[in-house]
Amino acid sequence: MYNILKLNKIAPVAIERFGADYNCVDECDAPEGILVRSASMHDMELPESLLAIARAGAGVNNIPLDKCAEKGICVFNTPGANANAVMELVIAGMLLGSRKISEGIAWCKTLKDDPNNLKAVEKGKSQFVGPEIKGKTLGVVGLGAIGVLVANAARALHMHVIGYDPYLSVNAALHLSRHVVTVNNIDELYAQADYVTLHLPVNDGTRGMIDADTIAKMKDGVRLLNFSRDGLVVSSDIKAALESGKMASYVTDFATNDLLDVDGVVAIPHLGASTPESEDNCAIMAADEMKDYLENGNIKNS
Ligand code: MLT
Repeated sequence: MYNILKLNKIAPVAIERFGADYNCVDECDAPEGILVRSASMHDMELPESLLAIARAGAGVNNIPLDKCAEKGICVFNTPGANANAVMELVIAGMLLGSRKISEGIAWCKTLKDDPNNLKAVEKGKSQFVGPEIKGKTLGVVGLGAIGVLVANAARALHMHVIGYDPYLSVNAALHLSRHVVTVNNIDELYAQADYVTLHLPVNDGTRGMIDADTIAKMKDGVRLLNFSRDGLVVSSDIKAALESGKMASYVTDFATNDLLDVDGVVAIPHLGASTPESEDNCAIMAADEMKDYLENGNIKNS
């Protein structure tokens, strides 16, 4: 019997997947495995019994990787399992930012008690005009599972798409639409893109990569999307770019405090992977990886 500690709510299909030889619980002093979604494990004392951690999601920045490496604890993630869910929200985000949809919705609510609200809409709606995405250029930074899906979906919406990824895998290249232009120099992407979307992990090489210098290389009126990690951007520089008009909108899946009330920011509460389909896919992949490691010593995807 293996004990698996769940640090977050994980789709019940994971429990079914583990089967009768596993005890999946919310509290346990000596677990062999930990299943985690977004909870930060950085301050956690890692139990001596722990053999593996499975992250139901792509990013592993909530896991103390150095400590795990020292103790020989295997860490798995579930790349690709939530890619479609994230891609759909990125496309929605691109339209939200462009067409001022969230501002329009908020304004509509202020008309709740106005008996002439339909007339007010007729008069006031001109403040919410925003451009179509058709024919515009999207720059996709990071062509992993999510970036490739976003690039292909944007092509289907008649956008020009430029991609940048210094570590482009053969598999990603095979799945990428042949109409996506890849560049070796990220500055070329910044110079041409009307929309820039980030699909890469946060690490020492990428933390704070979108700062004032980078933004200066982008087109005037650029629209930035960040559904990857908050730490990729310097929020004070985003704020300054929005206030000066250099950046037209910043759509983000993170509720960054100092940006929430800035005009042009659309913030979503980390919903990229929040669909039943994606939660099931992540739970299944995480449980299968953990089981295969604990029972057979196989390491996939760590
Ligand atoms: C991810 O890294 O894939 C996401 O953070 C998943 C999640 O929302 O839990």
